[in-house]
Amino acid sequence: MRYIDEIDVSGKRLFIRVDYNVPLDENRNITDDNRIRAALPTINYSLENGASVILASHLGRPKGERNPRFSMEPVARRLGELLGKEVKLAPDCIGPEVAEMVAALRPGDVLMLENLRFHKEETDDDPEFAKKLAALADVYINDAFAVCHRRNASVHAITNFARECGAGFLIKNELHYYEKALEAPKHPVGVIIGGVKISSKLGALRNLVQKVDKIFVGGAMANTFLVSQGYNVGKSLVEEDMVEAAGDLIKDARKRGVALYLPVDAVVAERLEKGAPKKEVEINNIPADWQVLDIGPKTVEEYSNELKDCTTVIWNGPLGAFETEPFDTGTVSIARCLAGLDGLTVVGGGDTAAALKHAGVEDKVSYISTGGGAFLKLLEGKKLPALEALEKCGK
Ligand code: 3PG
Repeated sequence: MRYIDEIDVSGKRLFIRVDYNVPLDENRNITDDNRIRAALPTINYSLENGASVILASHLGRPKGERNPRFSMEPVARRLGELLGKEVKLAPDCIGPEVAEMVAALRPGDVLMLENLRFHKEETDDDPEFAKKLAALADVYINDAFAVCHRRNASVHAITNFARECGAGFLIKNELHYYEKALEAPKHPVGVIIGGVKISSKLGALRNLVQKVDKIFVGGAMANTFLVSQGYNVGKSLVEEDMVEAAGDLIKDARKRGVALYLPVDAVVAERLEKGAPKKEVEINNIPADWQVLDIGPKTVEEYSNELKDCTTVIWNGPLGAFETEPFDTGTVSIARCLAGLDGLTVVGGGDTAAALKHAGVEDKVSYISTGGGAFLKLLEGKKLPALEALEKCGK
């Protein structure tokens, strides 16, 4: 992979693909600007080295239609505040008006293009569209790690048309931590895996079981594992068609000598509602009309003790319904445990990052990936198509 600091950017126009797919509230205020901050080093480096910068991103899923709800406008405004300079917003990402604005750029200027997904050609990986994007600049830089698992025109097809290509510092950082945590980690390696669906994490679990020493399961997906071991989980969410796969994973872990931990107790309630009456029960004592909404205190204690001697810990997926108090206790406790560890701690996935923030420890782990689907793909041991394309670019 070639990185931006190996390219002479001085006096050049850079097309930087970023992932500014940030969460917005109903008034279109950005509720978490982490992805905007994460790409700042690449932008600042470019500006300090005499380049002009064209930024391109998608926001949400407007499905190929121009829709003001998905405009990049709040993002351009926020970026302007963070950079302390004007960030102009183009009315589109291709076309004559954009070309005019691009031609007027001077070194040190920043122009943001309008949402790439206003054109369906973006998600179609359309070569003609990619060619038009590439033609805007002298150099193509991809720093949009979180969308690198997609074959989208601005990260994939574009590499066939760009004159010069490279990756930005965010991608460099993401790959650095991925390699440290999974390719050449210091053992023992522990993985905490949670979230709702085992089906979306099966690929990751099947890969991780071959690489790590301990797996800690939480979140609603733990219910499916528990059912595979004959437990009754009441009205909890279960993926019936995944029970067999869960059982097989447990067998595989055993065969490989990997310790796979399931909750030994749980916090249950009749419904998922803020402040709903709850109780803590042993895992073999879940009432038939109640549902599991968090891991229990004994599980927290066991997981925390077992995590203590891990030199490397990777975390993806919350351990309970942490957005709804009081079902955040397990997730918050494990987040704080992670924050207190000396080893390498790498966290990925939007919900997990939000959970760390909720626990007030987002600055106490080694690295928080900006990727959701992209991070998961790496956990599956898969290559990211956009990064493969970038590696080949210019060769
Ligand atoms: C993400 O938020 O994970 C990326 O921006 C990709 O978005 P998508 O799932 O809509 O392709």
